[in-house]
Amino acid sequence: MPAVIILGAQWGDEGKGKATDQLGTRAEYVVKYNGGNNAGHTVVIDGEKFALHLLPGGILSPGCTPVIGNGVVVDIQVLFEEIEELVSRGMDTSRLKISSNAHIITSYGRKMDALSEKSLGDKKIGTTGRGIGPTYSDKVSRIGLRIQDLFDESVLRSKVETALAQKNILLAAYGEDTFEVDDVVAELLAHAERVRPMVIDTVLEVNNALDEGKTVVFEGGQSTMLDIDHGTYPYVTSSNPTAGGACTGTGVGPTRIDRVVGVAKAYVTRVGEGPFPTELLDDSGDWLREKGGEYGVTTGRPRRCGWYDAPVARYSTRVNGLTDIVLTKLDVLGGLDQIPVCVAYEVNGQRAEEVPAIETDFAAAKPILEYLPGWQEDISNCRTFEELPQAAQDYVLYLEKISNCRISSIGVGAGREATIVRQDLLG
Ligand code: GDP
Ligand code: IMO
Ligand code: MG
Repeated sequence: MPAVIILGAQWGDEGKGKATDQLGTRAEYVVKYNGGNNAGHTVVIDGEKFALHLLPGGILSPGCTPVIGNGVVVDIQVLFEEIEELVSRGMDTSRLKISSNAHIITSYGRKMDALSEKSLGDKKIGTTGRGIGPTYSDKVSRIGLRIQDLFDESVLRSKVETALAQKNILLAAYGEDTFEVDDVVAELLAHAERVRPMVIDTVLEVNNALDEGKTVVFEGGQSTMLDIDHGTYPYVTSSNPTAGGACTGTGVGPTRIDRVVGVAKAYVTRVGEGPFPTELLDDSGDWLREKGGEYGVTTGRPRRCGWYDAPVARYSTRVNGLTDIVLTKLDVLGGLDQIPVCVAYEVNGQRAEEVPAIETDFAAAKPILEYLPGWQEDISNCRTFEELPQAAQDYVLYLEKISNCRISSIGVGAGREATIVRQDLLG
């Protein structure tokens, strides 16, 4: 039984939620390995829509144990808001497990996120404002708070004191209100007893599950091009959504992973600032946004839209060692006479086949487009590859070739069932 990583192959919002949910219905575990409630993963079951932020996709599948791994940052308030929302809709969230080593997003972490964006001015990242960056900064600076700290008040207090000794100086210098140790400790302790039963050694749990031959899906938040190491730095998130992050973020060794699945839209979107070579600033961009419903699940921001970017796809294949691509939203492209695809870039007057390694070169990259024939039919009811119009089949086969990775599944709608499976990802 396989261990499968599902991750974003572009700039996020590719449809990882749907892909994870589909495998989650057959998996024993879905383990979230990075990020936090900056993610917004949509799952549509029998027409009912669920937006998951912090909770792993497996929470919607009765036979599945959802796990929040050590690499995730947890806003405890949000955790319970999401749990309560699902419970009010009749879902059972009692199977959720959380790593004792996951870091906690605090009220001052959220504040520092806002302050950092404000101080960056027109160089701002366009973060989701959820406190993600400051929480990972504290983790790396070794002044972070972890879930296990909730269960020992003196340890918690001492760590909050250490962190606030730094934060309050900065906040005061910016003329902002400072934080009181007592308030922060009280806020965190208010949830401690509710969290306690969920907290386990998830490294042991997940490795034991793999030893027993169980199926484990590792769910990535964000995406390859938002990766702190491999993305369009500094316009990135603060974690590793790439495949390596699934190992460090859960404590599972790379030799145990059977498959790495990259989710890619049949076009590209991006939220927030940063380079985006195929971005459309004209009517076609508006058309894609409206037809694809491209508005952020977490912040509601309109997503920037552009054509499929093959150098980015090849980069994702390489950086993650992709074994499969799940291509989503093919249905959205119906109705175009021809579909542009970016096959390479022009950078400073030269043709570049691959994503440039130098930040300023990538920012200057202009897409070199090829034009493929479009189709007019509604493909949302197609369930086999052969049912797709010839032009749609050809488009998929072309993307497969220029992405250097097989396309194993094709999304033709938001619902669980609206998928063409070419290769079983758990087979
Ligand atoms: P995620 O963050 O990667 O999970 O993706 P989001 O949920 O942020 O955004 C993907 C959006 O596309 C959601 O509204 C999904 O319901 C929707 N979606 C996913 N796959 C398909 C598909 O194949 N076709 C269509 N039309 N919508 C899809
Ligand atoms: P899912 O999992 C799209 C973007 C933000 C911003 C940058 C940094 O739904 O694909 P952060 O709050 O993480 O410090 O913001 O990353 N971003 C996402 N964009 N989808 C996401 O998640 C994102 N999570 C963060 O817009 O540009
Ligand atoms: Mg999303």
